[in-house]
Amino acid sequence: MTSLLVTGAAGFIGSHFVRYWADAHPDDNLVALDALTYAGVTANLDAVRDRITFVHGDIGDTPLVSGLLEQHHVDVVVNFAAESHNSLAVLDPGRFFRTNVLGTQALLEAARQVGIGRFHHVSTCEVYGDLALDAKEAFTENSPYRPRTPYNASKAGADHAVRAYHETFGVPISITNCANNYGSHQFPEKVLPLFVTRALDGAQLPVYQSKDNRREWVHAVDHCRAIEAVLERGRVGETYHVGTGDEASVEQLADLVLDELGRGQELKTTVADRPGHDRRYLLDSSRIRQELGWEPTIPFEQGVRDTIRWYADNRAWWEPLRDRSPVTENDWSRS
Ligand SMILES: NC(=O)c1ccc[n+]([C@@H]2O[C@H](COP(=O)([O-])OP(=O)(O)OC[C@H]3O[C@@H](n4cnc5c(N)ncnc54)[C@H](O)[C@@H]3O)[C@@H](O)[C@H]2O)c1
Repeated sequence: MTSLLVTGAAGFIGSHFVRYWADAHPDDNLVALDALTYAGVTANLDAVRDRITFVHGDIGDTPLVSGLLEQHHVDVVVNFAAESHNSLAVLDPGRFFRTNVLGTQALLEAARQVGIGRFHHVSTCEVYGDLALDAKEAFTENSPYRPRTPYNASKAGADHAVRAYHETFGVPISITNCANNYGSHQFPEKVLPLFVTRALDGAQLPVYQSKDNRREWVHAVDHCRAIEAVLERGRVGETYHVGTGDEASVEQLADLVLDELGRGQELKTTVADRPGHDRRYLLDSSRIRQELGWEPTIPFEQGVRDTIRWYADNRAWWEPLRDRSPVTENDWSRS
C-alpha cells in the first residue's frame, strides 16, 4: 500500500486525480489537503469521501504538513495546490507568488524534513512564455523559462524551487508541465466552462480580440494518467511534458460550445485581451510517450462535447460557484 498526500485536492485537476487514484488504486491511502480558497469545492470529493481523509489546510503551513506526512506515513506528495487563474493574477499578483512559490517551498521543506519518497510537482506549459502563431517548433523540456505573466512567473518560480530542493537536499522530485486542461468540475471562471455556462443562460461569450490565439488541450483524466505514469515509471529528478498536439483557438472553442448547445453566433462578443495574453503554447511531449508509454486516450472534439454536456447536466454544481470568482473577463475593457 502506498500513502499519498494530494494538495489542491478540492480543485479541478486535483479532484480528478483523487477520484481517478481512488478507483485505480483502491488499496492506497489518500490524504487530500486543500485551503478551500474560492476555487476549492468540497463537493468535488463527494464521490470518494468515505475512501479518503480530507484536511482543510494550507501548503504553506509546514508544521501542519509535516505532521500529516508523519501521521499518515506518506510516501508520495502530489502538489496541485496553486492560485491558477491568469486573469486574477493581473489584479492580485501577490497571492500568486505567496501560494505558488512560497507555499511550494514550505511544502518542500516539510517533505525534506520527513524524508519523503517522492515529491511530484504539477506545473504548466506557460512557464516557457509564448510561441508565434506560425512557429514550427514546440517547447521541449530543455527550453528556457521565459514567463510573461504573474501566474506563469509564479509557476516558474515553483519549478525552480522544486529542482533546487532536489539538487541541494536530494529530495526525490519529479515535475510534469502540462498543456491546458479541460473536463468536468473546472471552476466556471476558466474559458471553456465560462463559455458553456454563459451560452446555457443565453448570455454573451467574451472572446478575446486576439481570437486566433490558441492553446493545446488535454483532458484532465489523461493528465492524471500521465502523472500516474511518472510516479510509477518516471525517473527521479526528471521533467516530463504532457501534451496532445490538439490545438484550438479561443474562437474555435466558442464555436464548438455554440454548436453543441444549438446556440447562434450572435452570442459571441469581442472583448479586449487580458494584459500579457500569450499567443500560443505547444509542448513537445515525446519524452513521456517514448520513455513511459503514455498516450492521450480522449479525442479532443468528443472530449470537449462530452464536457459541454456535463455542464449542461450539472447546473446545480456550477450555479452557486460563478459569483465566487473575484474577477470577470469583461473587466479588461474597463481597466
Ligand atoms: N488548469 C489547467 O489547464 C492547468 C494546466 C497545467 C497545469 N495546471 C496546474 O495544475 C494545478 C491545479 O490546477 P487547477 O486548474 O485544478 O486549479 P484550481 O484553481 O481548480 O485548483 C487549485 C486548488 O488549490 C487550492 N489551493 C490554493 N491555494 C492553496 C494553498 N495555499 N494550500 C492548499 N490548497 C490551496 C484551491 O483551494 C483549489 O482547490 C495547478 O498547480 C496549476 O498550475 C493547470
